[in-house]
Amino acid sequence: MSIAEMRFPDGFYIGGATSDWQFEGGFGEGGRGLLSVDFATDGNRECPRQVTWMDAEGNRGKSHWEDPLPKGATLTMFDDEYYPSHRAVDFYHHWREDIADMAEMGFTTFRFGTCWSRVFPTGLEDEPNQEGLDFYEAVVDELNARGIAPLITICHDEMPLGLVERYNGWAGRKTIGRYLRYCRALFERLGDKVPLWLTFNEPNAIRGVCMMGIRDQSWPTYWQAIHHIAVASSSAVRLGRELCPGARFSTMFAMSEFYAASPRPADVWARYERRHEQYAIIDAMTGGGYPHNIDKVWASFDADVRKEPGDDELLAAYPLDFVSFSYYRSSLVSDGDGVRLLGGATNTYCDEKTPWGWAVDPLGLRLCLNELYDRYHKPLFVIENGMGAIDELEEDGSVHDNYRIDYLSKHLSAIRDAICVDHVGCIGYTMWGNVDLVSRSTGEMAKRYGLVYVDMDDKGNGTLRRVRKDSFWWFKKVCESNGADLSA
Ligand code: BG6
Repeated sequence: MSIAEMRFPDGFYIGGATSDWQFEGGFGEGGRGLLSVDFATDGNRECPRQVTWMDAEGNRGKSHWEDPLPKGATLTMFDDEYYPSHRAVDFYHHWREDIADMAEMGFTTFRFGTCWSRVFPTGLEDEPNQEGLDFYEAVVDELNARGIAPLITICHDEMPLGLVERYNGWAGRKTIGRYLRYCRALFERLGDKVPLWLTFNEPNAIRGVCMMGIRDQSWPTYWQAIHHIAVASSSAVRLGRELCPGARFSTMFAMSEFYAASPRPADVWARYERRHEQYAIIDAMTGGGYPHNIDKVWASFDADVRKEPGDDELLAAYPLDFVSFSYYRSSLVSDGDGVRLLGGATNTYCDEKTPWGWAVDPLGLRLCLNELYDRYHKPLFVIENGMGAIDELEEDGSVHDNYRIDYLSKHLSAIRDAICVDHVGCIGYTMWGNVDLVSRSTGEMAKRYGLVYVDMDDKGNGTLRRVRKDSFWWFKKVCESNGADLSA
């Protein structure tokens, strides 16, 4: 196939991706309850986000949002702190105009997260909050009316506070039943209108009380929680098969490309082991079951995971339909670097870095696509990718983000190569944060990913006015040509 003939396959899903708590806002409105991430403060490159709490003696404190809470401490909010999830960028009140922008660009899909505590305010109710479901149904109807397929993340790194307090989040097996009640409410209301569902976001990259609801997280509790998440995901797929038979299900996994830091065999082995840890989670959820040596993996984390009879059979019987993943950068792995699961040193072999130091490596994305397709033989979906950068809003209302266009162009070309040259089955691409939103890792607004600029600063000041960047018009061209024209 010549370059001129290369494009994405017919029916390719293309669009943008967001989460609920980085995007939606609407805190305290429409019956929304408290969410674990509502206690995470803003942060920046030097000082990552923190979580605020009160200890048993009534002293207030805050600590890194991925660290265990001090013994006896409870999540608490204080008036003099800023909590970005409360307002986020207010999709709750801007959804019509945001969706109109997506339609104008020619999106064929839009990924968003439903907020668990908007549907079950404490997580412990028997019946869902109808007002919450009404909101999501209105969004879904608007998307469908504009020819944009809704793609819903059921749980994007958050949970109602009630489940943190009652069950210690995903460390508690009973959270599975509560999650399934939430899935049932979504499937019953939206099942015939939503073709694509993600049961979870990046189970291989979440940590701590905000993202997993676990107050005292250690590696053993992490792996126990991951098993509960895997069982919850397969149970959700089983329920989805019954209630929304036309829909397809996946979980989104974090997938940096890893390279050995050198050809030293010990570094190459360290790279292999890191990848194997990641694959263990994907294997379990895609039908193959845990890898044959999962006990060795768990033992290396001092974990002794408890399974219940029938868990393995459930995982095997209800696998994900497609494998979806995020890809932003590549990293280096070396023997003895002490990093586990995700993460690693910055890839010094890539000349370009984002302002946040993430190595720009489109070939790494092509590698990931090939590796995942070789291993799982299932359709793939690149569900997050993008460039966090500092954008300047000019006086004439323009934003010239040619660096973002360049980044997206190179990564979309890598996907097109994987499809057209390597014959990888990839069904879609959603770039991260099509409308600027709050950064997950730093809590900043300054780290912008969008095609549409939002007038808001790191402390939530601003009009929330939406402004189209140069990348808006470029991405429109990509959508309209179905990937035939990726020129920057
Ligand atoms: C993904 C998450 O891993 O990375 C998103 O699913 C997150 O929630 C995205 O926003 C980009 O990371 P950050 O820290 O730049 O917002």
